[in-house]
Amino acid sequence: MGPETPPPDLGIPPERMPRHVAIIMDGNGRWARRRGLRRVLGHRTGSRTVRAVTRECARLGIERLTLYAFSSENWKRPKAEIDYLMKLLREYLVKERREIMENNIRFRAIGRLSELPPEVREDLDRTVEMSRDNTGLILTLALAYGGRAEIADAARRVAEKVREGVLLPEDVDEETIREHLYDPEMPDPDLLIRSAGEMRVSNYLLWQIAYSEFWVTEVFWPDFGVEHLHEALRDYARRERRFGGLKEEE
Ligand code: FPP
Repeated sequence: MGPETPPPDLGIPPERMPRHVAIIMDGNGRWARRRGLRRVLGHRTGSRTVRAVTRECARLGIERLTLYAFSSENWKRPKAEIDYLMKLLREYLVKERREIMENNIRFRAIGRLSELPPEVREDLDRTVEMSRDNTGLILTLALAYGGRAEIADAARRVAEKVREGVLLPEDVDEETIREHLYDPEMPDPDLLIRSAGEMRVSNYLLWQIAYSEFWVTEVFWPDFGVEHLHEALRDYARRERRFGGLKEEE
């Protein structure tokens, strides 16, 4: 299903749909603890939500979905939890290949991917490669990702080009920075969703969310369902985006 198909049964005019949805998937640990379960079971259940939300975004003809799957700060967690998350990620990457291909999804990853264990990188590369010619939803996982690190990495590459004489300092502008982000083709998210109630950005897509609309739900990520995605989309469709300007009639 492509963007030309009108979103079914949501009642949102196509021009009011976000093109790019980004999500901070929070609350897996709390979800598990509330049930007396181990935190990692929250992550496992959260990976099911990833599947459901991805499928629904593809069905609705949304162009981009970018998920915060592992932040650079997550390296500070206990080794056992990190190992479990990496194992879950590999499982996901292998098991979801069929789903990705059947739904015409292009799979990508952003972040300091070289910090990931080699076997995770291999699975990542394979899934990216296999799905590169698909034409539907672009699903990006942010892994070993930090927004400040992304901007610093971009600044470093720009500085290298200046040193090489390929670029003049006076020519460095916002566009230059954007072109050196992890995925230069990524448009800014229109809608940023966060589960589990915290009102913060947690170092996610700092450059790209300058004018994104923020939508937060109290619901923990494992309990986040298609109905919550719909609620966020309906709310987004009602908002007036001004990008620092004025509405036309003002
Ligand atoms: C936050 O929950 C979530 C994460 C640290 C990682 C997100 C991972 C998943 C949704 C599962 C794996 C993903 C894929 C793509 C297979 P938290 O542990 O910070 O929750 P808490 O704040 O309640 O402790």
